[in-house]
Amino acid sequence: MIEALDGLRDVIVCETRISRIALVNGKAVLEYRGYDIRDLAKHSCYEEVAYLLLYGELPKKYELQDFKIELAERREIPPQIIGLLTHLPQYTHPMVVLRTSISYLGSLDKLKDLKTKEENLEKSKNLIAKIPTIIAYYHRIRMGKNLIPPTLELGHAANFLYMMHGYEPSKIAEKALDVDLVLHAEHELNASTFAARIAASTLADMYACVVAATGTLMGPLHGGAAQEVMKMLREVATPGGADEYVRKKLEKGERLMGFGHRIYKSIIDPRAEILRELARDLAKIGNRIWFEISEAIAESAYKYKKLLPNVDFYSASVYANLNIPDDLFVNMFAMGRIAGWLAHIIEQYETNKLLRPRAKYIGETERKYVPLDQR
Ligand code: CMC
Repeated sequence: MIEALDGLRDVIVCETRISRIALVNGKAVLEYRGYDIRDLAKHSCYEEVAYLLLYGELPKKYELQDFKIELAERREIPPQIIGLLTHLPQYTHPMVVLRTSISYLGSLDKLKDLKTKEENLEKSKNLIAKIPTIIAYYHRIRMGKNLIPPTLELGHAANFLYMMHGYEPSKIAEKALDVDLVLHAEHELNASTFAARIAASTLADMYACVVAATGTLMGPLHGGAAQEVMKMLREVATPGGADEYVRKKLEKGERLMGFGHRIYKSIIDPRAEILRELARDLAKIGNRIWFEISEAIAESAYKYKKLLPNVDFYSASVYANLNIPDDLFVNMFAMGRIAGWLAHIIEQYETNKLLRPRAKYIGETERKYVPLDQR
């Protein structure tokens, strides 16, 4: 038996062709299907990246056009899901709502248990297309606002902002969200993707696997961190307040949300670098304060503990300037990551071996059973 008691740190549990994280010339590189995310963020769009992750190749022009239309035509959600969104208590966290809705979508899909490649791709396109609608509809329902149905006229990112706010986003806002989704789309064997693969390895249906992933993503050490970052930005309130805040927090031995990473230790998370640029660009047309506080916090975090920002850190100021409420931040992560989860679930089905590690028992042994009336 091999012991790996440190949170499975550096343990390889499967092979994948979906993404690669590597150190090249002293820099961290993240590739989706062999393509550098810096290139994808610059030249691609979320639909193209989702296609790449699912099919393994970049689409030709007509394939991308067809894929975009296919996604756009699947955006509407069944009336039963709208009913669910209406009946859930308004204080329900939007990520719990998303998890519950995905489970309900599964119960409505008569082909849920089929696992041919075609069926899996059908379900994948449905999930990628419907998740933004679930998020936007729930938000508008809890705010007591009318629902804005999806439009075929806009791309994935722009349509989401349109359904949320009721007006078409600016080109800068659309590009910012699109790049943010591209950067969140995939990240090898992070905790939520691992959870999805464990579920898939039991041959559970695709919806069950995605529910496992959404539940895992929500924790503050994973996708829930961005909401905590926003809380910190609000508490710090001005760039001048950052240094003392960071020093005190670290002195107390507390974690600084949006910093540190299991893989990117002394090198910067390449996604954080791109998001920093996005956050800076958005700050020019939105509220500058969030970016300025972020910069001040990042400087102090490095000064006191050599901590580097991760993907969740600058996401917070990007979302704030897109007028997305704090408690939807983790849903935004899920909206991007769904493509990666689905690619991994399909890969797991195709190369399956049950994922079932062992635990080292450290409790008492061979105890004598004491009858209930004698305890
Ligand atoms: N604030 C303060 N200290 C930290 C932080 C942090 N954010 N992250 C790591 N450290 C310190 C930690 O205290 C420890 O120091 P020491 O050895 O002196 O006790 C050392 O760095 C190693 O930490 P670790 O917990 O062993 O590292 P890990 O690889 O198990 O944890 C992590 C990775 C992401 C859970 C952690 O960095 C963390 O808690 N970060 C804050 C939450 C966060 O931002 N999560 C989002 C992760 S990126 C997006 C995603 O995948 O979801």
